[in-house]
Amino acid sequence: MSLPVSSIQFTAAPRRILVTGATGFLGGAVTLRLLELGHVEGLSFLVRAATPAEGLERLLQNLRVHDIDERLAALLKPEQILCGDLLDTHWIDAAKPLLQTLDEVINCAAVASFSRNPKIWPVNVEGTFALAEACAQSRRLKRFLHVSTAMACGPQRQSPVAETWDFPEPDQQLVDYTASKAAIELKLRNELPLLPLVVARPSIVVGHRRSGCKASGSIFWVFRMGFALERFTCGLDEQIDVIPVDYCAEALVELALKPKLNYSLYHISAGNAGACTFGEIDEAYAGAMGDAPVGERYRQVDSADLKELAADFNERIGPANPRLVLRALKLYGGFADLNYLFDNQRLLDEGIAAPPRFTDYLDVCVHSSRDISIPAQMQWDFK
Ligand SMILES: NC(=O)c1ccc[n+]([C@@H]2O[C@H](COP(=O)([O-])OP(=O)(O)OC[C@H]3O[C@@H](n4cnc5c(N)ncnc54)[C@H](OP(=O)(O)O)[C@@H]3O)[C@@H](O)[C@H]2O)c1
Repeated sequence: MSLPVSSIQFTAAPRRILVTGATGFLGGAVTLRLLELGHVEGLSFLVRAATPAEGLERLLQNLRVHDIDERLAALLKPEQILCGDLLDTHWIDAAKPLLQTLDEVINCAAVASFSRNPKIWPVNVEGTFALAEACAQSRRLKRFLHVSTAMACGPQRQSPVAETWDFPEPDQQLVDYTASKAAIELKLRNELPLLPLVVARPSIVVGHRRSGCKASGSIFWVFRMGFALERFTCGLDEQIDVIPVDYCAEALVELALKPKLNYSLYHISAGNAGACTFGEIDEAYAGAMGDAPVGERYRQVDSADLKELAADFNERIGPANPRLVLRALKLYGGFADLNYLFDNQRLLDEGIAAPPRFTDYLDVCVHSSRDISIPAQMQWDFK
């Protein structure tokens, strides 16, 4: 949880940590966590911007959405911004002197979209590899923490899913995004033996324990849509593996900074103990909305029958493009149907705190989503 600024201990010899993706959801939460732990001076950020001043402005804009204390925000300087784009990595040569000074990299940058975005492969695989390759040349670097996704394991796994480096063929993956995340994990591991690589695979990251969906409505709209339509592809007795972004960030920072780790691959997930059933989520959601749970009115539908819900869209979720909503429901239904929990024993064995349950903070997500329609919130996942 967040620390008051007065209790922050600034580190004497600053660790030099590069954070990528700090203008995004996970990267913003990671940055805030690092700042709260007193890592200020040693931080640098890869940001897409024309100038460091513009990059700092973009970073601060995101950190304010994550509720940064202005006294912490004021400590960040344009000199901490490395302007660069993973789509065109020509800047890396000029950045090599900085990359040689780093102790840790926390690589959160990616095109994290379920749509068919042509930038997914160039950024998530080629650009990410170019950055890691340059980092691998440093003798000083202690850890390159690459943020992947638990869903990169692909379909047809036994739940709870264990951490392994086995992946299905890319065309077996549900979307290009998970295929790209699997591909870069293997490429980093196989082609850069000198890179001090640790891969963290978060499960489904939804909201924040204190600010709910303020920083991102990613995936929360799926729950809203399911309850509004009173139908979706999951059964109420099935479980789902959800964690809040602030917990994910705390775990990522510990994995990045802990001097010794037992493994090079970790799930950051709810696991068996932290997962909730859709029935529990229905009750918590209804409680926060001041409604009765959907309960017995809920119907589990087959993916192929989702199109029958379109007639109700206008009345139940508000004006929306039915084709887009159906596509979204089908995609997310595909992931929900996998019915995966992700084993988090490795993480717990590192002494990292157990995750909260989704139902512990779901009311905060509901209250922070009141002014955004379900179709508008859905746009978070279709960039
Ligand atoms: N959200 C989840 O549920 C979830 C779950 C599991 C794993 N993950 C992983 O967590 C990581 C972050 O995801 P997120 O949800 O935080 O995504 P996000 O909010 O979309 O943030 C993505 C970040 O990557 C940066 N980025 C995108 N393209 C870039 C490029 N060409 N060059 C440099 N930076 C670029 C973005 O910068 P701009 O601001 O310039 O666009 C942004 O800072 C991803 O690796 C994702 O696979 C997320």
